[in-house]
Amino acid sequence: MDIKHIVSQLTLEEKASLCSGADDWHTEKIDRLGIPNIMMSDGPHGLRKVVDVDENEIWKGATVKATCYPSGAGLASSWNRELIYGVGKALGKEAKGEKLSILLGPAINIKRSPVCGRNFEYYSEDPFLAGKLAASFINGVQSEGVGTSLKHFAVNNHEYRRHSTNPIVDMRTLREIYLTAFEIAVKESNPATIMHSYNRINGCQVSKSKWLLDGVLRDEWGYEGIVISDWGGMNDRVASLDAGCDIEMPSSGGVRDDMIVKAVKEGRLDERILDKTVERILKTVYKYLPENNAPKADLEKNCGYAAFVAEETMVLLKNEKNLLPLDGERPLAVIGEFGSNIRFQGRGSSRVNAAYVEHPLKYIKRFNKAEVCYAPGYELSGDVNTPNEALINEAVACAKKCGRALVFIGLPDEFESESYDRADMRLPDSHNELVRRIAEEVPDTVVVLTCGSPVEMPWLDRVSTLFLTYLGGSGAGLALAGLLYGAVSPSGKLAETFPVKIEDNPAYLNYPGIYDDVVYAEGVFVGYRYYQKKKMKVNFPFGFGLSYTKFSYDEIVADGDRVKVKVTNVGKIAGKEVVQLYVCPPKSAVVRPDRELKGFTKIFLAPGESKWVEFTLDDRSFAYYDVRVNDWRVETGDYTVFVGGSSVDTPLSVVIKKQDKNPYVPEITDNTPLIDIINNPGYDGIRDEFLLGFFKPEMRIEAEKKGIHVSNQTVFPRKYQTPRMYVRGGKDTVTEDDIAESVKQFNNKLKNK
Ligand code: BGC
Repeated sequence: MDIKHIVSQLTLEEKASLCSGADDWHTEKIDRLGIPNIMMSDGPHGLRKVVDVDENEIWKGATVKATCYPSGAGLASSWNRELIYGVGKALGKEAKGEKLSILLGPAINIKRSPVCGRNFEYYSEDPFLAGKLAASFINGVQSEGVGTSLKHFAVNNHEYRRHSTNPIVDMRTLREIYLTAFEIAVKESNPATIMHSYNRINGCQVSKSKWLLDGVLRDEWGYEGIVISDWGGMNDRVASLDAGCDIEMPSSGGVRDDMIVKAVKEGRLDERILDKTVERILKTVYKYLPENNAPKADLEKNCGYAAFVAEETMVLLKNEKNLLPLDGERPLAVIGEFGSNIRFQGRGSSRVNAAYVEHPLKYIKRFNKAEVCYAPGYELSGDVNTPNEALINEAVACAKKCGRALVFIGLPDEFESESYDRADMRLPDSHNELVRRIAEEVPDTVVVLTCGSPVEMPWLDRVSTLFLTYLGGSGAGLALAGLLYGAVSPSGKLAETFPVKIEDNPAYLNYPGIYDDVVYAEGVFVGYRYYQKKKMKVNFPFGFGLSYTKFSYDEIVADGDRVKVKVTNVGKIAGKEVVQLYVCPPKSAVVRPDRELKGFTKIFLAPGESKWVEFTLDDRSFAYYDVRVNDWRVETGDYTVFVGGSSVDTPLSVVIKKQDKNPYVPEITDNTPLIDIINNPGYDGIRDEFLLGFFKPEMRIEAEKKGIHVSNQTVFPRKYQTPRMYVRGGKDTVTEDDIAESVKQFNNKLKNK
């Protein structure tokens, strides 16, 4: 198809009209030239195809029945690329059957604070994990000929004042933490569209950030798809078009299209920019035209698949008395309304009209041959916070009667939503009190926690057993029952840290910020990067999750940048393990995290089986972002590569030596600290003569007498001084001109080196 030719036939008005939606969900079409439109739909873990729009509320209106998969927090806990590719593929098929062209997901913003209202949709606090999993998801959806929308680009890490908030974040942190996940996903899966976020970054509205959209995304990362605005996220249409935002969503009723036309006519916008934009849009439209004969998905079958997926997304956090897997021959009290009515998704634009939902109680009753009694324990509507004594008493009696209890607690629906953040990290008092009272009476208590992001656990020391379901989608209940009774061994691992309390979170002091400004003062120390550096106690660390079997990490071998490890299932049952690789930098010129995730693989091992797992690292695995040159740098030194089953349990390690391939050897100035001149090997050969020029004569004589090399820091206490400080009168007369001349000579020698 000759897209350029089509563009050449369009009028200015027609071109401008293509740059915004036709309505809430469709792109614009041009009947005159037979240019079709395509339809987009939320969302990241299930279709939310709107069939009847409610004009007053963007998330209301009827949506088609669909499969709800575990939300992002759960999907990421699977750490399973193939599984997430499969989810993407299934969603792509379902979307195709609904004649959808673009699925608005995945959502991968970094979990900076546990209270972000959308954390349940997001993948991780770690950009490597989030980026790799997002790429798998996108490749899965797009393998079915349906496009995706990677969102929300970028630095959209809280919902508080989400349309106007202004994260203040330094370049290194941006690159290493907040852009990396997007970068990986773009490079490894080229999503059809990218949705820019509502917020500003360092004062610039993302919708019109030419640096980010045209520069970083397209020029640097080679992105070939289109950028669309988050719904209602447009500010200055002309500037944003120039910056690289192709489509404004939803329609502005033509108002902003007219602005584009006017700007071109008045010479404020180069028409060639508009042409390029329209070319990109049409390429995407034609590439993702709906398939007319695609069959509708079998939603009942998909619900079974969603349960299979959910099995890998739930995380066993504590099993100190081996109460799990449950013994089906003993009576069991199922306590808590989530047991009969599990919360399986969050609120907002990712909300799915689930065709089927499997709740735990039904399946627990199937697995448990002995009696199962049930008590709701708390209310899920009305005053959800205050403990209800009558319900608690009933629950305690039920638990005592059975002699053991499975207590379902978690965050009620309205606690986690798009558009607002949680007030704190607390569970409702009614849930905390229920656990406390049951655990006091019945030692064999298993707590099942359902939420989309970390919560404080004031009862943690009093319970031996804890299972986290996250928000498990349509098949949550079925998956959970299978896990509880050992039909499958748990294999989920946390993709985020569970801190003890909200005050421990590195963003705590700078959240929510000062009016719109939110200073990301913790820098790159987000999540485990912070807790580990500070050696802080957390409830559950990043990468952690138990299994019913045991794995031993036997051997590690490094060959260049390839690392191989041998892992064995030393338990009695089959299970999956997430093998995680972390890189620890050598002593660095800049402050760096103690370790960072740079590889992971999930493997299945039968009892007694061993497998070798291979990781191939690249330069980025060792690099930090050097703001002096705006590029990635691998410093010379010994990097320790740790491998194990969580961020804090890495029994294997090996050292890999790296050499800085592009050392930073800048010209010096009269204000370069002497320490930088001493330490940079790039100045070898020209350094001593220069330094001696500034060394006080008596010190110099002393040093020479002792035979000490002038660059030795021990005799050089003035290492942070800079040449300009050596200007002085008297008998050691050194003038500014002398300094300038020495600096000049130094730099000349450097040039000719
Ligand atoms: C959300 C997006 C969503 C869009 C369309 C926005 O409010 O931020 O994630 O895709 O609405 O529903």
